[in-house]
Amino acid sequence: MTSSTCLTPQMFAGKSVFVTGGSSGINLAIARSFAEHGAAVAICARDADKLRSAIAELSQAGDGQALGFVADVRNDGAVRAALESAAHQHGPADVVVCGAAGNFMVRAEDLTPNGFRTVVDIDLIGTFNAANGAFEQLRATRGSLLFVSAGQAFVPFSHQAHAGAAKAGVENLMRNLALEWGRYGIRCNSIVPGPIAGTEGVRRLAADVGEEAWADMVPLGRFGTTDEIASMALVLCSPLASFVTGTTLVADGGLALTGSGRFNQALERACS
Ligand code: COA
Repeated sequence: MTSSTCLTPQMFAGKSVFVTGGSSGINLAIARSFAEHGAAVAICARDADKLRSAIAELSQAGDGQALGFVADVRNDGAVRAALESAAHQHGPADVVVCGAAGNFMVRAEDLTPNGFRTVVDIDLIGTFNAANGAFEQLRATRGSLLFVSAGQAFVPFSHQAHAGAAKAGVENLMRNLALEWGRYGIRCNSIVPGPIAGTEGVRRLAADVGEEAWADMVPLGRFGTTDEIASMALVLCSPLASFVTGTTLVADGGLALTGSGRFNQALERACS
């Protein structure tokens, strides 16, 4: 077996990886997995304290060279500066993971234009800002873009009009970039995590529905783990997936197979 047909412990050695929103949850686990597999990792996030503790964790997991930048993905100049600074120290990015996201539960009729705009700004515009800012680096490395998406992109979930619209845009952007940037050797894919234990996203969404009731809706009968998403991210950005672009990998324990009906009913019951 060659290193392009199996995952090896140091398969990202010598590679430069940048993760937006990498200071917590799924994105931190993704960054950590890349570091554990030899990559030089850089992350950006809004909160300086969370960034510091994530960098300590990443440095321990990898070669001690993890970099962190305070940058809000809504600020294209800040993201570009972080990407450039990371490239200066680690070399141009081989992998860019666009993971930064914001979300909250709210009925569509109670959602303000600014609330809607805020989530679209973080999730969709922020994803574009990172992809756009990384283009020249990825062109130089013939690298890989990975977008962290969500099931709401495909099926409407109650109280998620803003996040659903934003993530649907992310999915379409991913396919568009895959189409246009294939000629540069840049692969673009997305991953759809189901409910993942211990994440801020689940904490916010489960506050009304309840974690146990929600886990019961998942065909595999449980929430996923951040490491289960991270391992799929590694595969998608590795040589194992060298002919895969424009695709969405759903890692949700089968939740998408069931639609959103039970979730919506549980939510309505909780909120009525
Ligand atoms: N319900 C309804 N509207 C809400 C809301 C909620 N729970 N939380 C925020 N909003 C609205 C605000 O009211 C505001 O709109 P308004 O000016 O019309 O009142 C708008 O969203 C912006 O809120 P603000 O708090 O100023 O935004 P922010 O940029 O500081 O924070 C958020 C962004 C709202 C996404 C915030 O929840 C956040 O920082 N989340 C990061 C972590 C996260 O969401 N993780 C889960 C990822 S899946």
